[in-house]
Amino acid sequence: MTKILKMGMIGGGPGSMIGDIHRITATASGKAKLVCGAFSSTKEKSIEKGKELGLDENRIYESYSEMIKKEALLDEDKRIDFVTIVTPNFLHFEPAKLALEAGFHVICDKPLAFDYNEALQFEKVVEKAKGHFAMTYTYKGYPLLEKAKEIIDSGHLGDLRKVKVDYSQGWLSQLIEAEGHKQASWRTNPEKSGKGGTIADIGTHAFNLLESVSGLKVKSLMADVSILVPGRKIDDDTNVLLEMDNGAKGYLSSSQICTGEDQDLSVKIYGSKASLIWNHNQPNLITIKYPDFKEESIKGLDKELIEENEVNLPGHSSYFTEAFQRIYEGFFDTIQNTNNKTDFVKANIKDGVRDMLFIEKAIQSSNEKKWIKL
Ligand SMILES: NC(=O)c1ccc[n+]([C@@H]2O[C@H](COP(=O)([O-])OP(=O)(O)OC[C@H]3O[C@@H](n4cnc5c(N)ncnc54)[C@H](O)[C@@H]3O)[C@@H](O)[C@H]2O)c1
Repeated sequence: MTKILKMGMIGGGPGSMIGDIHRITATASGKAKLVCGAFSSTKEKSIEKGKELGLDENRIYESYSEMIKKEALLDEDKRIDFVTIVTPNFLHFEPAKLALEAGFHVICDKPLAFDYNEALQFEKVVEKAKGHFAMTYTYKGYPLLEKAKEIIDSGHLGDLRKVKVDYSQGWLSQLIEAEGHKQASWRTNPEKSGKGGTIADIGTHAFNLLESVSGLKVKSLMADVSILVPGRKIDDDTNVLLEMDNGAKGYLSSSQICTGEDQDLSVKIYGSKASLIWNHNQPNLITIKYPDFKEESIKGLDKELIEENEVNLPGHSSYFTEAFQRIYEGFFDTIQNTNNKTDFVKANIKDGVRDMLFIEKAIQSSNEKKWIKL
């Protein structure tokens, strides 16, 4: 019987956006159990969260460095097996490095790092580490996107000629950081978000989704990375023309100033024989379109999540929760070498580094107003 993995969490304190989803979906299958955490930069808030979760008070830590140090001193049957990192972007590398160097496995949310330079240092740490490293690119967890990849790999669409990915949100259409909005404040602060704002926050999802599903790589790009809300300090809108490595053309758009949009995410891949469309508004459906305008719908299995696993995140269906759970199961599969899950759900350091390269090159292209190779 495979052992239950012991989880420690960094970030995900009171009022955090994505922390609860990580905790709930990591433990939903019973394959992992949360045993400790450093949930906030503030000692009191970390304790508040740890108590709410019913943790042993000795294992609610004041800081992530204390957590890694003290956990590493515990006996193997007690100490954590892996660490989940759900802090703002500027605080991914340091805790991950400490955890990996202490021999723990790490799963970290996107974007990988503050900038490309830090991502390269991160990669070196992962290469040397004994533990495994994974990332939560949520859209890799959607079963229908994995199915889309299979369809494309089978050659059903013919030669891929055009690709489009669009991720539009509207929650930053007003200057809500000026009113102290928690999640907006660090995302629009270049010292905490990193080199990119919206391009890092959701452009990375769009980029990873496009390359993962199409199987193509972006070869070169021409980007326009802008600040459209007056008073904002970092980009909130991105439009990128793409040339893929097979010669296909296309574009990536990511924006958080699309007033009234919640989670408007879609990917469209156009081939010589057929096209494939997926939209986050109907995540359990793929539409295939043919030259004679006939359409075929491919529907996934209805989800089988029990109610208490649901997290009410605006704009996200319960398929979002399911996707997160599948990513964690992929991570556990890697740790326990059980080979039950496909590689599609297992985003790793290479996905993270490539995403940071995309941010770097898109900003450079926008500043220099020219096409840049990736
Ligand atoms: N995969 C996805 O779909 C998805 C969705 C949302 C956010 N994210 C990513 O998750 C990360 C967190 O985003 P969020 O929206 O939940 O942010 P958030 O501001 O809601 O939460 C961040 C948490 O980190 C804690 N924190 C800050 N400094 C800390 C420290 N030194 N030690 C311990 N905890 C600390 C904060 O107290 C807070 O609880 C970001 O990197 C973001 O890009 C991913």
